[in-house]
Amino acid sequence: MKRILSALGLLSITVLLNAQVRVSLHESTPGAVIPPEIYGQFSEHLGRCIYEGIWVGPDSDIPNVDGYRVDVMEALRALKIPVLRWPGGCFADDYHWRDGIGPRESRPKMVNSNWGGTVEDNSFGTHEFMDFCERLGIEPYLSGNVGSGSVEEMAKWVEYITAEGGYQAELRAQNGRKEPWKLKYFGVGNEAWGCGGNMTAEYYSDVYKRYQTYLRDFDGNQLYKIASGANGDDYNWTRVLMANARNTMQAVSFHYYTVVDWNAKGSAINFTPAEYYEVLGKAVEVENLLRGHIAVMDAYDPEKRVALLLDEWGTWFDVEPGYNPGHLYQQNTMRDAMVAALSLNIFHKYTDRLKMANIAQLANVLQAMVLTRDGEMVLTPTYHVFRMFNVHQGAEYIPVDYNMEYIFSPLGRPLPALSVSASRSADGKIHVSIVNPSLDKSQNVDLSFDDKVKGQGSAEILSAPKINSYNDFDHPDTVAPQPFKVFRIQKNVVNVRIPPASIVVLEL
Ligand code: AHR
Repeated sequence: MKRILSALGLLSITVLLNAQVRVSLHESTPGAVIPPEIYGQFSEHLGRCIYEGIWVGPDSDIPNVDGYRVDVMEALRALKIPVLRWPGGCFADDYHWRDGIGPRESRPKMVNSNWGGTVEDNSFGTHEFMDFCERLGIEPYLSGNVGSGSVEEMAKWVEYITAEGGYQAELRAQNGRKEPWKLKYFGVGNEAWGCGGNMTAEYYSDVYKRYQTYLRDFDGNQLYKIASGANGDDYNWTRVLMANARNTMQAVSFHYYTVVDWNAKGSAINFTPAEYYEVLGKAVEVENLLRGHIAVMDAYDPEKRVALLLDEWGTWFDVEPGYNPGHLYQQNTMRDAMVAALSLNIFHKYTDRLKMANIAQLANVLQAMVLTRDGEMVLTPTYHVFRMFNVHQGAEYIPVDYNMEYIFSPLGRPLPALSVSASRSADGKIHVSIVNPSLDKSQNVDLSFDDKVKGQGSAEILSAPKINSYNDFDHPDTVAPQPFKVFRIQKNVVNVRIPPASIVVLEL
């Protein structure tokens, strides 16, 4: 029964079934700071992510401040979102920013051909996005149009946003914003291998170099240029970009969605235990991809000057019945929460190269934080994970030692039987996030620290009546964090019992 396969990273857990798991945490030799941007988000003009999800317009009956819905803004504020990517996604390579400025009533409408043929009225444009980020203290991340846009259009967008003088700055002032914005993150295209232009890596690397040449730093602004990266495990894409263009970029991205079979993605809410393990097994494969892309990058850039970003990730299931198939609206269960928690714990281990991750997407699309129905809103189980885990943002990573036992999915995917990550924040508090993916076994964990643990500690748990429980508009709190008391501190050891299919964050 006992199958200890290998040691992963520095964490050491020995799992003896129905026995104690020992985890050693080395808080006296902390690692690098966990970049807050690992907790980034993504918002695309897709379905009801922007319209209804964030923006209802100032004339809406839905309570709003200057067009932004109040309930969503307040919910997002609690997440401390560090960075938000916009306007796509595939939409970015169809988007012409000049259509989204000026008086809203005279902005041209377009068909959103990528996403259900919905008519886009451009009422949410550059000003609305930048203003939204400013209100929430979020760093904006723009994706520029390479696929159907020109170099001139992209260059002028940066000038419009960041320059103090010249025609673009005057236009911006006429449109209500005199002061330039600061803009750091700029993506040169999106999925250039697919919806962003169907290019080869070789061709795109030249195109990238051309476009980025004209993205200027105006008046003290400093751009962080991001090359559009690989689809999943296409390491050759990363290799070609690193070989041809690494000196002209601050980062290269890649995308990874948790999809077991793209031809039959499966229901977000109706699934068997076997499908649950398969999806979790697929989600944690992101660790292999991180290692693969990082190995390629290390060969070209051992000093780690160029960052790796995972600027789209998350679960992707069948659209909920009754919704536009092009709008990617899916429910969100405790299974999604497990995917989020396992993924974030993995990301923490690779932050010497991985500097940002953006879950897809913010509202009403794919693995969303919030779901809305007209004036109603619910927080998803994934939202709760992001809120519970935000204590790791900007904290020092604490190495942990382990020998890992695995649960094997029906298709043979290994899934760690326990996932533990820890960090120490600036105020000296230690946070430990623990995930028990087993559907039927509790885990009795001894967290063994270098030094005596002071104080009482506190903890929260996220679990659910059933693994496919979710929050809907009639039952918004079916899956919600609760205070958790089943832990005991004895000198330098904290014993904690983690129930099946649950996520615990301890504060010590
Ligand atoms: O997030 C949905 C879509 O997935 C994005 O538009 C695209 O970049 C990816 O394929």
